[in-house]
Amino acid sequence: MEVFEINREEELDQLAKYILLNYPDKRFFALYGPLGAGKTTFIKYLSKQLGVIDSVKSPTYTLANMYKTQEGKKIYHLDLFRIKDSIEWLDIGIDDYFEDPNAVIFIEWPEKIVDLLPKDRTIFIHINPDPDTQKRKIVILLSDEQENYA
Ligand SMILES: Nc1ncnc2c1ncn2[C@@H]1O[C@H](COP(=O)(O)OP(=O)(O)O)[C@@H](O)[C@H]1O
Ligand SMILES: [Mg+2]
Repeated sequence: MEVFEINREEELDQLAKYILLNYPDKRFFALYGPLGAGKTTFIKYLSKQLGVIDSVKSPTYTLANMYKTQEGKKIYHLDLFRIKDSIEWLDIGIDDYFEDPNAVIFIEWPEKIVDLLPKDRTIFIHINPDPDTQKRKIVILLSDEQENYA
């Protein structure tokens, strides 16, 4: 488990670099946090570090966005806020994205499908905003730590 205090949005740039460097075998990024916590924003910074040139926008209504990096690597950005559970998810068929072995997958609201994520390839990121300031506490967990994290 690693915990970071983020005081300004721009600090996410360094944190994105750090995570991609230190967790190179993770290609699933499960981002937890309430509405407005900064999940989409952090995905923007992570995508930028991965070399995405497309503009990263919230897929709240489309469920999934796809971006490409300069090297042609695919990045999927999912927002499962509107999904009921993993059964609905499988019905829609978006889990096909999970099978692309080179793709990076960012997931907002992963609670709904957490049982479908490959444990050894997933990093769990919790963003906890301080209600009184603009500050965020960002907690990084591996799968076994996630299971014990309240
Ligand atoms: N680390 C941060 N520091 C300050 N403001 C932030 C930070 N992260 C996000 N924000 C701001 O919070 C708002 C909501 O962010 P967003 O990424 O859309 O949240 P979420 O996807 O979790 O609902 C945006 O206006 C964004 O600019
Ligand atoms: Mg969002």
